[in-house]
Order: sequence, then structure tokens, then C-alpha cells
Amino acid sequence: MSLLSVRNLNVRYAIAGPVKAMLTGLSSRFIDAVLDVSFDVAQGTTLAIVGESGSGKSTLARAIVGLTPIASGEVRFAGKNPFADGAAGRAYHREVAMMFQDPVSSLSPRRTVQSLISEPFIVHTMREKDLASEARRLLALVGLPKDFASRYPHQLSGGQARRVGVARAIALNPKLIIADEPTAGLDVSVQGEILNLLTRLQGEFGLTYVIITHNLAVVRHVSDETAIMYMGRFVEKGRTAEVFPDPAHPYTQGLIAAQPHPDPARRRTGVVLTGEVASLRNRPPGCEFHPRCPSAQDLCRTIAPRIVTEFSGRTYLCHYPVNRPAQPARP
Ligand SMILES: Nc1ncnc2c1ncn2[C@@H]1O[C@H](COP(=O)(O)OP(=O)(O)OP(=O)(O)O)[C@@H](O)[C@H]1O
Ligand SMILES: [Mg+2]
Repeated sequence: MSLLSVRNLNVRYAIAGPVKAMLTGLSSRFIDAVLDVSFDVAQGTTLAIVGESGSGKSTLARAIVGLTPIASGEVRFAGKNPFADGAAGRAYHREVAMMFQDPVSSLSPRRTVQSLISEPFIVHTMREKDLASEARRLLALVGLPKDFASRYPHQLSGGQARRVGVARAIALNPKLIIADEPTAGLDVSVQGEILNLLTRLQGEFGLTYVIITHNLAVVRHVSDETAIMYMGRFVEKGRTAEVFPDPAHPYTQGLIAAQPHPDPARRRTGVVLTGEVASLRNRPPGCEFHPRCPSAQDLCRTIAPRIVTEFSGRTYLCHYPVNRPAQPARP
């Protein structure tokens, strides 16, 4: 059964008050940062969500944990609506942990590592816990020496700060961790260490992960399933081992081709992503990717594609998918 289930989720931000919108002629005073996103994550597995800056990844994560209001759609955790009532919400906040983008600035500078990693127990009023011994247990789990308990965030390297973030996330034995860019800003070798740590903890505790990243190398290493986000939508989703060798969406194909390959002789050529992401204030008609798409045709400029689901469970939003028959538009 899926642990986390998201259906037709929409999240919007007000970008202007009604008067300003009228005076400046904005067609809408909202932007849709997340549009019609649906997915399931099975217990013990990892979903990676990939997309360029501004595609709505953090907004989606924040909406799932209840930090940003949902405009419409549904989130279910272990089959229940976590926002239904106070008790469900409290349980949800123990069982789902979020690792925020930019961990160093999300750690309060004046607090010691022990105080930072034992904070979840205080928030959840588990004062009976021996906080010092809990801190030692968590430091050992994330591979930091116990004398780190008395350090302050500015005394930590990027990788160590990330480990403290992981310790905070696992403090209450959550079932699901949503990690927003867990390796951004780290050296490649340190990225590998953090990913290994996450993988080890997943094996040890049966954790379920949603990992958000713009780094396809990360995705390939850690995820069972991959979702590609563009302008707030999931434009493709499927098993990682199937999506990478055989992307269906030209955007996915472009992202994969744009990845640096360690062996220059094997660098792929051909598909290049050009142009910029369109503004969310002014979504292109038809398929929103068409202004950047190498295979766009007339249909793409006028009619938005609907979700196609393949036998394997792969889904994508495209009229002219890669190496597949064209998807005729339905009226
Ligand atoms: N509080 C807010 N108010 C208004 N607009 C917002 C707000 N937060 C984000 N946005 C806008 O929503 C869109 C999605 O932002 P989001 O931070 O979710 O993207 P992201 O995929 O996480 O990007 P990045 O890779 O840079 O972290 C962007 O256009 C952003 O400018
Ligand atoms: Mg983000």
C-alpha cells in the first residue's frame, strides 16, 4: 500500500492584492506553483522529484507537510487525511519529517548541536526523554562524534551541518522523510557520503523518502521512482531504471542529455534544452513546454496534452513523446 498518496494537488500564491491586480492589468492575481500533481509513494521506497529552479518542488514539499495551504486536491498518509483533525495532524507531524533546503541557515546559530537535534522531543513534549543520551544516540546514527553535541552551527562543515539536519529529521522515528535538496552546495564526495547515510538509514529503519533535487546523478543513485516537474506539473513519472534509458517526454530527454558525463567520448549530443522557463504569470497556451520543445508541432501550441499512462505505470504529458507513437488529441 502507498504510504503517501497525493491526488490532483494545486497550490497557488497571491502575487498581488485585488486593487493592484486591477491597476496593473494582471489577468490573475495568483500564480499556480503546483498544478494537478498526483503520485503515490510505497512504504520503504524513494521518489525523487526533479525540476529546474522555480518549478514548484519546495512548494509541493511544503504543501504536503502542511506548511503551505493547499488550494485543492488531497493528501493521504497511511490512508488517512492528515489535516482532518488535530490528533491526526499531531501524529502526522511526528511521522513525517522535513529536511529543509539550505540546512546551515535553517539551524539557529546560537544553539548547540545537542539542543538542535533534541528540539523535536521538546516540540512534541516528550520531556521525559533523556535529551543528552538521545543526542548521543542520534549523533552516532548519523556518523558524528559525540563531542559534536556542544558545537555550534558555524563550527560545522557543510557535510556535518547536513548530518545534523538528518539527525533532527530522524529524531522521532518518522516513517517518511521529505528531503529538499539534501546534497546541494556540497562537494561531490561529500554528496556521496550524505546519500550513503540516507540509504543506510532507509535500510535500517525502513524509511520512505521523497527527495527533491535538480541533480540527476543523485536521482539515479537513490530513487526507485522519478518525477519530472515543469512549471508546477509532473510532466513525466515512472520507475527511475526505466525513465533514464528511455525518457518519454522531450523535456526529460533534454535534462538527461544536458547532464555532464564523466567520459567526454560518451557525451551525448543532439537534444539541447534552449530558452527559458516561461513565466508562471503568463503560461503558454497548449503544452506549456512547447516554446522550448525540439519536437513541438502546431497541435502543441494550441491544445494542452492530457496524461498518458503506459502499461508499466509510466505517465507523461506530451502529444509527441520520444520513441513512441504520437498521442492524438482528444476533443
Ligand atoms: N511565498 C511565495 N509567494 C509567492 N510566490 C512564491 C512563494 N514561494 C515560491 N513562490 C514562487 O512559486 C514558484 C515555485 O517556487 P518553489 O520555491 O516551489 O520552486 P523550486 O522548484 O523549489 O525552486 P528551487 O529549485 O529554486 O528551490 C516560483 O515561481 C516562486 O517564485
Ligand atoms: Mg526549492
